[in-house]
Amino acid sequence: MKKRIAVLASGRGSNFQAMIDAIQACQIPADCVALITDNPKAYAIERAEKAGIPRIVIDYTSFPSREVYERALLSAMQEVNADLFVLAGYMRILGTSIVRAFPGKMVNIHPALLPSFTGLHAQRQAVEYGVKIAGCTVHFVDESLDGGPIILQGIVPVLDDDDEDSLANRILVQEHICFPEAVRLFCEDRLTIVGRKVIIR
Ligand code: GAR
Repeated sequence: MKKRIAVLASGRGSNFQAMIDAIQACQIPADCVALITDNPKAYAIERAEKAGIPRIVIDYTSFPSREVYERALLSAMQEVNADLFVLAGYMRILGTSIVRAFPGKMVNIHPALLPSFTGLHAQRQAVEYGVKIAGCTVHFVDESLDGGPIILQGIVPVLDDDDEDSLANRILVQEHICFPEAVRLFCEDRLTIVGRKVIIR
């Protein structure tokens, strides 16, 4: 049976687009039932509109505090009744009340080979550190920062003349492969979390 997936995105939404494309190509047995964004200017909104996906804008700046914002976000997430929440460039840390509400039902993509380079500007961190290999990680979301069980990783070389942007672009190509693949595995019920590990059947 098809899963219901909802995507949270804050900006450009190229990973969201990769998800839309994979669903439309019947590579993922799912319906995308909502785009939820904290940013009314996110280009992801236009992508959703074009694909006929309902848009829920919860403008972070219109709330008096993070707590009140998160309460609104939580109730929107409960209402969409998704089997899986996909964080595709959602650029805010989710509070514990939200993470605890959807255990094992939320995945994130991070533009680094976790556990290295958590948080913001992961690609810049990789260039500045001087690593030779970088990549992306798709993982379940838990209460730690970018620390949940890892589903898939994609790797790319780091070249001597890379800057943050050139490395980010190379990693993005891998993101668009790994993320739909991880969501496909979830939707086919092929992922089991065993402690820190994700077993793929
Ligand atoms: C992607 O590179 C994603 O890995 C990153 O933001 C970008 C969003 O691009 N996410 C994070 O850094 C989360 N901490 P997109 O809007 O084109 O998908």
